[in-house]
Amino acid sequence: LGDGPLKGRHVLVTSGPTHEPIDPVRYIANRSSGAQGAAIAAALRDLGARVTFVTGPASVPAPAGVEVVAVETARQMLEAVEAADPADAAIFAAAVADWHVTEARDQKIKKDARGLPTLGFAENPDILATVSQRETGRPGLVVGFAAETENVIEHATAKRERKGCDWILANDVSPETGIMGGTENKVHLVTAEGVEDWPRMDKHAVAARLAEKIAEALG
Ligand code: C5P
Repeated sequence: LGDGPLKGRHVLVTSGPTHEPIDPVRYIANRSSGAQGAAIAAALRDLGARVTFVTGPASVPAPAGVEVVAVETARQMLEAVEAADPADAAIFAAAVADWHVTEARDQKIKKDARGLPTLGFAENPDILATVSQRETGRPGLVVGFAAETENVIEHATAKRERKGCDWILANDVSPETGIMGGTENKVHLVTAEGVEDWPRMDKHAVAARLAEKIAEALG
């Protein structure tokens, strides 16, 4: 582990999408490359933190020098987060699926079965809200994301209060922004004190700036 302002600190980062199986060959998921989460984990590592990186099936590789816990579903992600060592800060960058399919099949659903299949859904656990609202062992700083396509600040401000986290990094992920799957991000940092608008920049620069802020906040 390197030197730096986060030396001796443990930070948990979730990243990537989750995959919720329908049958052994099919799943539902959110769009997420995992690029912003991986960049955040790397930036925290660069400031000397020990990083536990809980990741769904992302399309970008996990950074070197972090402890990777690979999961598939939201329920597994929650389990991994609960099993992680106590953290000084936790950053929830994963694009967790809101629902899983009830009664996922053990065998591939055949296309020639009578009629179209019907899927049942059940709500997934909200990992960010669960950790934010812990009575014991809550990380000193909990950061969530709000990927929105309209009324970004308004939704993010409400989300911060609803979930009980300290900061929300809000971004507009409308297709025309090119942010999803792209190399840049344009975020707003929503805290109890107000809103900071950050310029559009490379996802690594967003990650570096966030890591600096976290180091400052942890003191
Ligand atoms: O409610 P929404 O999905 O918009 O909230 C996004 C934030 O909540 C992100 O930080 C995401 O990682 C986190 N989240 C979570 N577990 C869920 C849903 C979202 O940790 N089931």
